[in-house]
Amino acid sequence: MNPSDINPLKWQDDALVLIDQRVLPGEEIWTQNRTVAEVVSAIRDMVVRGAPAIGIAGAYGMVFAADAAWQRAGADWRKAWLADVDALRHARPTAVNLAWAIDVMLECSARIEGAPRDAMLAEAIRIHTEDLAANHRMGALGAALIEPGVRVMTHCNAGALATAGHGTALGVIRDAYAAGRIVEVFATETRPWLQGARLTSWELSRSGIPVRLITDGSAAHVMRTQDVRWVIVGADRVAANGDVANKIGTYSLAIAAKAHGAKVMVVAPRSTVDLATATGDDIEIEERTGDEITTIGGRRYAPESVTAFNPVFDVTPAHLIDALVTEVGVVHRPDREGLARLLTP
Ligand code: MRU
Repeated sequence: MNPSDINPLKWQDDALVLIDQRVLPGEEIWTQNRTVAEVVSAIRDMVVRGAPAIGIAGAYGMVFAADAAWQRAGADWRKAWLADVDALRHARPTAVNLAWAIDVMLECSARIEGAPRDAMLAEAIRIHTEDLAANHRMGALGAALIEPGVRVMTHCNAGALATAGHGTALGVIRDAYAAGRIVEVFATETRPWLQGARLTSWELSRSGIPVRLITDGSAAHVMRTQDVRWVIVGADRVAANGDVANKIGTYSLAIAAKAHGAKVMVVAPRSTVDLATATGDDIEIEERTGDEITTIGGRRYAPESVTAFNPVFDVTPAHLIDALVTEVGVVHRPDREGLARLLTP
């Protein structure tokens, strides 16, 4: 697979085909999903991950849910699918793109007469296609903010694998590198799932973009010694006041960036902005099992008696963010007024 053309989700032969991101880059395994239960598991178990990608997967999950409900209940299908809709919506809690996609699909379902499958599938394909276009638009807008010849840092994986393709933060990095604005990227390894080590460094190096992998704990040191000018990340949810939930460690990076004169750019499509969430304090932060920290590759390293605390996202307050890039425009130093202005039609 050529990473510059990575599309981690495909609709093929009536199945949602997903690349299994748990085993990349060592193995390239594509999974076929044909039921809503399979899609829920794929999202929960992180076969597919990244806020926009789980939104798209959720949209295709709604196609399976609608079709199965129609087979079971005929004209009463909208009553028969509620448990499935609920299961999809709650497969992961922090990235709002999932709930957003479910709501868009529900709005579509309300307009359908007769068998729902074709209209629902057309809507899921629309969501999928528009995400790719949004990423290219954000790539151009974000790249234009970066001074020529700089080094940047990114966290987790906000790349093609986390979206319909191109990526959000990595979309900006790809476009800025092509324009000579970025000369090198530092990618944090991103404990405990290693999205940076496994996915981001793979995407960037295979695209020919100079990347050096760093441990999460070395970020401040690297900023101080390597003249990092921008920290560029994606988001799982942007609250109405501009606070940003993203992969655990983003908050620490934003604080370190302020201390070292680096700027922070958050790149996220409109579907990640949730005006119904007032502030970052209102965002549910997913906690996953402590085993993800106490073990590596199935082998336990921490003493058996030790328990772990494993929040997998954090909230970066808006005042630490220099630019929020969406496909409909850029908000500098985001706040409630700036976001409202950007998003009011
Ligand atoms: O737990 P993950 O891998 O789904 O977390 C992903 C992130 O935090 C990404 O930075 C975010 O979803 C943006 S992806 C364009």
